[in-house]
Amino acid sequence: MSSTQIAGADLAARAAAVIPGGVNSGQRQVPGLEDMVITATSGSTFTDATGQTFTDYHSAFGPPLLGHNDPDVEAAVAATGRSLDLMGVGVTRVEVELAERLVANVPSLEKVLLTCTGSEATFHALRVSRTATGRRHVIKFQGCYHGWHDSVAMNVISPAERVGGKDPISGGMLPEAIESTIVCRFNDADEVARALEQVDVAAIILEMIPHNIGAVLPQPGFLERLRELATKHGTVLIFDEVITGFRHGLGGYQAISGVTPDLTTLGKAMANGWPVSALGGKAELMDLFSTTPGQPAFFAGTFNGHPATSAAALATIEKLEREPVHEHVFRLGERAPTGLQAMYDRIGVPAVVSGFGSIFVTYFLEGPVVSYDDLLRNDVDLFIGYRREMMQDGIFELPLNLKRSHFSYAHTDEDVDRLLVATEAAVTRHLDRRA
Ligand SMILES: Cc1ncc(COP(=O)(O)O)c(C=O)c1O
Repeated sequence: MSSTQIAGADLAARAAAVIPGGVNSGQRQVPGLEDMVITATSGSTFTDATGQTFTDYHSAFGPPLLGHNDPDVEAAVAATGRSLDLMGVGVTRVEVELAERLVANVPSLEKVLLTCTGSEATFHALRVSRTATGRRHVIKFQGCYHGWHDSVAMNVISPAERVGGKDPISGGMLPEAIESTIVCRFNDADEVARALEQVDVAAIILEMIPHNIGAVLPQPGFLERLRELATKHGTVLIFDEVITGFRHGLGGYQAISGVTPDLTTLGKAMANGWPVSALGGKAELMDLFSTTPGQPAFFAGTFNGHPATSAAALATIEKLEREPVHEHVFRLGERAPTGLQAMYDRIGVPAVVSGFGSIFVTYFLEGPVVSYDDLLRNDVDLFIGYRREMMQDGIFELPLNLKRSHFSYAHTDEDVDRLLVATEAAVTRHLDRRA
């Protein structure tokens, strides 16, 4: 073992002693990668403590759209950090400029508030919906993830026997919260219509493309129908664009679909990896937050609108506006799925390669894919197995069932070429071993 490898093993052991499970998010606990220690990131790559460098398609679950350590974003953070720290009173220029940029870009945003995480943004979106409507229930969809709080932490990647029922993803959740959440089938607007007839619903929350299960695309008319139903029933429609916002375009997927929600949540790619998220929408809803004196929906957060992280978001958005980032990632995101689908067809492996823009995923099943229940047919062993094989070739797609892969501005056409060759080899090796 080299000295770097020994230092890495040592760090993993030290982590396990003082950090439960050795990692700071349950989503980073990946079987087979328990000892992974990351030592560096750069552009489209990361390096681990064994000294191996990988092309990164995991992309930290989505934030580094410009690539890791983008120089413009890093410079903005450093420059702001030198002159302006967190004060906890008043507002700063960078917060104002960021809010103006968000409102200018995202169609549904009349006003916007900053949070640190996407979970906080969805939490506050639901709280203000309940405040505005005086109602308790919310509707979410099987396969969508909106963060860790009780009202939404359920029915994401559920085992078959839990689909159609409640599948909380944590212990300790309030039964009242679980009971108040109605879980519907994605792309099934009739089921939503029935639920809205039966109970008073404060909000419908959804990922417009459920990327937490890869990329299940909305069927034509589904989002429009949800918009009509929400309006008819006085229910707040929340588009959770924590993944799709900025990654799929400056206006998010709502600008592409032409369907406008009442509230929108944003995060991840908005600041290229710095912890900034946002909640915005109709002024009549946003003005219910206690940031306006005397208003009833309490809203606070010590780190909200931190100048350095706000500067990261502003620099990211300015670069997205200035440079052909979306053109680049959409082009790579078109080449990869097309090439992968052709390859699977050629070698006779049943597969549906899905995706949108910079995001792609291969489901190993016979199509079509309309909703989460279709994904229960995915060949999980092959899905995880080929990704483990790919690591030998220095390519990293997260080896967990249904996880999506991402292109960034730092990925190249050569990366796509290498991905196509390595995927075929990895899938073939895995299938040969299994035979
Ligand atoms: C669509 C969506 N909403 C909300 C969240 C929660 O964001 P965070 O992890 O920043 O709390 C996530 C996280 O993956 C997400 O994918």
